Amino acid sequence: MATDAVCEYGMQMAKISDATKEKLRSFLPSAASVKNPIDMIASAPIEHYKQTLETVIADENVDMIMVIYLPFLGLKDIDVAKAVMEIKAQYPQKPVIGVFMTKSEFFTALSDMNVNMPFFMYAEEAADGFNRLNQQRKWMERPQGKIPCYGVDRAKVEKIIKSSIAEGRDQLTTLESIDVLQAYGIRACKYGLATNEEEVVTLGNSIGYPVVMKMTSKTTSHKTDVGGVRVNIQSEEQLRAEYKDLIEKLTEKGLIEGLEGVIIQEMVKGNREMVCGIATDPQYGPMMMFGLGGVFVEALKDVTFRIAPLTDQDAAEMVKSVKAYKLLQGARGTKPADMQQIEETLLRLSQLVNDFKFIDELDINPLLISEKTGEGIAVDGRIKVRMNEAKEALGCECGSLTCSC
Ligand SMILES: Nc1ncnc2c1ncn2[C@@H]1O[C@H](COP(=O)(O)OP(=O)(O)O)[C@@H](O)[C@H]1O
Ligand SMILES: [Mg+2]
Repeated sequence: MATDAVCEYGMQMAKISDATKEKLRSFLPSAASVKNPIDMIASAPIEHYKQTLETVIADENVDMIMVIYLPFLGLKDIDVAKAVMEIKAQYPQKPVIGVFMTKSEFFTALSDMNVNMPFFMYAEEAADGFNRLNQQRKWMERPQGKIPCYGVDRAKVEKIIKSSIAEGRDQLTTLESIDVLQAYGIRACKYGLATNEEEVVTLGNSIGYPVVMKMTSKTTSHKTDVGGVRVNIQSEEQLRAEYKDLIEKLTEKGLIEGLEGVIIQEMVKGNREMVCGIATDPQYGPMMMFGLGGVFVEALKDVTFRIAPLTDQDAAEMVKSVKAYKLLQGARGTKPADMQQIEETLLRLSQLVNDFKFIDELDINPLLISEKTGEGIAVDGRIKVRMNEAKEALGCECGSLTCSC
């Protein structure tokens, strides 16, 4: 069972060297097995626990050892534990875990003693411990990676955020958010702002149908909830009708006040919706997030986080570590996603949050995977800043650092 548990975690049983096997045979009874897992057989006295551990722990092929004890033939569990710890003390670098399938009093007794190794009741728990150690080793040994630095339009982002905070808004509009993303070289679909029906039509015609129309507002950031997103608009006629309807509905709902206008976007063909962004953790600060987006974000919670700033190594790991990676690879004839471009999107976002440390929340939802090119394309963005920090860092549009506008 211990071997199964170890192997299930993807670890391998150590290959005991011939020299070690020979040494074990010299004192263990002939019925014992010196192949891994080593079986000292039930009659083993304390001396065999000591000698076996001493022999095996010195073998270079062995990284970690699980010592399993079952109550038998009058050996006292605590005496065996002490003997094992005595040997372990000589090899502080090599992890040894005791699995003592004995009474709970044993563990109570241990808690009052000085111990130099962990003890569990069951082998599966010990294998879990080994697995954590192995993960830690892999983490320590992984290549460091590099934090890339892209050419971006930092001044434009400063300007956008400044004008938002000058109006007392910590939440950027959809348009401002997408503009920020684009200034950092994040691929957005073709888009433009329109503030009346004629502009709407001109944009629609120049982008080419089908198009998407969505509200962009200083007060409302969740657009679908209020009927503010119209997708798959096929013609100028339909666009005019949808625009009129949108304005009417927003007026009815009393949402026309903060409206900046509508964004007309190219309709990106693709049914894989990812999400990427930034959340601020009270302890770790900005955390980069990536995973399955769209309506599944909440339901499936298939997202992964890393501390910003990201290295290229981190970005590659993030993309691979979500379950939706399989969808990105392309199944049943869908186009494989452009992984490198998605990784770059994450790295550019990381640079953005590193340059503007007062960004509190940011998400691109969805980052649509284009069926045509496999690229991740931002069609929606949401950015929120920490007002006081932003004012402190940028000053205010009015020129004062201490104003209250
Ligand atoms: N340009 C676009 N191309 C294709 N689909 C889009 C586009 N814009 C939005 N959508 C679809 O509409 C949904 C909602 O739009 P979105 O802009 O994300 O608004 P919100 O999240 O504020 O409701 C998206 O998740 C996506 O499925
Ligand atoms: Mg959205």
